[in-house]
Amino acid sequence: MGKVKQQGDVIDVILQQHNLIRSLFQEVASASGNERASKFKQLAQLLEVHEDAEEQVVHPMTKRIASEVADARIEEENQAKKVLAQLKSMGPDADGFGELFEKLHQAVDAHATHEEKEEFPRLRDRCDESDLRDMADKFQQVQALKGGQMRR
Ligand SMILES: [Fe+2]
Ligand SMILES: [Fe+2]
Repeated sequence: MGKVKQQGDVIDVILQQHNLIRSLFQEVASASGNERASKFKQLAQLLEVHEDAEEQVVHPMTKRIASEVADARIEEENQAKKVLAQLKSMGPDADGFGELFEKLHQAVDAHATHEEKEEFPRLRDRCDESDLRDMADKFQQVQALKGGQMRR
């Protein structure tokens, strides 16, 4: 009998969130009115806690293995944060929102793909599976904490 995987590691957790982020981008793009506003809010919060947890838990580990890979991802995240902040201050009903939103969509999709293709294979290759599982716990703790702060 094969070994049962008890719990996903940090990369499994992140890949699931990347799927969720990609679907939310589609949903915002195709929604309108209040639904669009509430989906955008959901997406913005998810993106914030996602990138924040990666910056606290994942990229520091990558930095020890391949610092240029970590630095490039952090730079992409910083660019995306600026665009997201702009979109949040405009609001989804503003002129030009759709165009800028599509720009963010492309950038975040490319960023997630870079993580999946350039960063995570290095972590899988160089980290112990038990470390990657511990990082999953840490990742979720950081997100729970940040989520709690946002609800206040
Ligand atoms: Fe990221
Ligand atoms: Fe990510």
